Order: sequence, then structure tokens, then C-alpha cells
Amino acid sequence: MSEERLALAIGLARQAGALLREGYGKSMHVDRKGVVDLVTEYDVRSEEIILDGLRRAYPGDAVLAEESGASGSGEWRWLVDPLDGTSNFAHGLPIFSVSIACAHNGRTILGVVYDPLRDELFAAGLGQGALLNDQPVSVSATHALDDCLAATSFPYDLRSNPDNNLAQFAAVCLRTHDVRRLGSAAINLAYVAAGRVDAFWGMRLSAWDLAAGLLLVQEAGGRTSRMDGQADPLAEPSSILASNGLLHDSLLEVLAG
Ligand code: IPD
Ligand code: CA
Ligand code: CA
Repeated sequence: MSEERLALAIGLARQAGALLREGYGKSMHVDRKGVVDLVTEYDVRSEEIILDGLRRAYPGDAVLAEESGASGSGEWRWLVDPLDGTSNFAHGLPIFSVSIACAHNGRTILGVVYDPLRDELFAAGLGQGALLNDQPVSVSATHALDDCLAATSFPYDLRSNPDNNLAQFAAVCLRTHDVRRLGSAAINLAYVAAGRVDAFWGMRLSAWDLAAGLLLVQEAGGRTSRMDGQADPLAEPSSILASNGLLHDSLLEVLAG
């Protein structure tokens, strides 16, 4: 059952990604969901492709998708971000992805993150390891904080909520090699899984941003927790530290201030 679902998720991520690749760089209609939260016609069209495919194959499965919300109920639930990195996409910055995960009775059993511009497909099945374009990947071996290249993202309410990650950003910048902000949480997590960055942290992200990437990191041998070290990064409001494992405790200490 989950093999078939993984194959379906890969196929749909590729189809939706092809649409994004086609639309990238073209003039497009952009709306605002919030002060800094954009949505384009491609977010909506990409989601339609994915949801059509899911409903056709598994009409009984529940879905939580960024643009159309929650539907259905039952033991299987899909989490769909049809375009993670909309701000990048709308600005013509080539870092964005499609993220699809599926949970069985609340446990994520598969995750796919697809970067259509680089044609990089990251996929993980629970207990089966993490793959990049069908080749196994693993987290980095960096163990010294001084050598750590980390990535982060800021919550959309950073202007109005003082708990906005700016203090943690400064603290991690001062203790590590450097910090990146790539603009797609799913890509950040896929890159932790592939050893391209050593860690990613963030707060108040959504389950559709994180679920696939979290499984990728776990299956690539990394460690995941909330930013205070507690379990369950997806519990609302979400809080996540995903790392290669070796740097986890040191980063928790820095994040604690
Ligand atoms: C956003 C991206 C970004 C993160 C935001 C997310 P979207 O997703 O993952 O990196 O900082 O919090 O909401 O809106 O582009 O799908
Ligand atoms: Ca997102
Ligand atoms: Ca999105």
C-alpha cells in the first residue's frame, strides 16, 4: 500500500513540478494572503494537479493542502504543499519545490520533495532510507559548531510577534560557520538529508511545509526535535530543529540562548 502511494506521490510531484518549471519566470498573477505571504496562480494550479491525482487513486484518503485546506478523514492523510518557496518563485529566484507527504494513523510514512528547476527528487519511505534521484543520501558528518552551515526561516508574523527567531538567528550566526535562508522549508530539510547543509531550524511553519522533509532527514540518519529539544516538531505551533545529529545538542544549547 505505501509503495504504491510513494510511487503516486513521486509521479504527482513531477507533474506539478513540470507546471512550475513552465511557469517560472513568466509574468503571473500574484495575490497576498498576508503582509509577506504571497500566492500565485501556479500555487493553485499545482495543487489542482496533485489533488486530482490523489482523489482519483485514493478517493477515501484525507488531505491537508495549503491552498484548499482539509478534507476527508480516515487512517490515511496526505499533506501537500504545491509550491514551497512562493516568494522565490514570484521574484524569479530559482529555489522552490513541491512537497508531498502521507501519514498513516498520524505517522508520516512517505515524503517527497521535488525541485523542478534542478530536476532533483528527494524521496523517503519509512524505514527505507532517503534517496535523491534514486541514489541513497545521508546527512553530513560535520561535528564542530565552527564548521556548521545551518539554514533557517522566519515566521510570516515576524513583524507583529516578538518571538520571531531574530534572536536565535543572531546567536547561531555568531557560533557557526554561517547561516543560510533559502526560502523553501522543504528544500532546507531535503538539503539537511543530503548533507548539503548541516542543520535547519524554524518556528510556526505548517505541517505541509515540514512533514515530507522531516521524514527525509530521519531516513537520512539525522535527528529532529522541536527547537527546545522536545519531541513532535509538528505539534502546533510547530517548532523544528533538524540536524545531522552530531550537532544537535550544541545547536539546542545555542538556540536556548
Ligand atoms: C514558506 C517557505 C518559507 C518559510 C515560510 C513558509 P510557502 O512556504 O517554506 O521558507 O519561511 O514560513 O510558509 O508559503 O512558500 O509555501
Ligand atoms: Ca510552504
Ligand atoms: Ca506553498
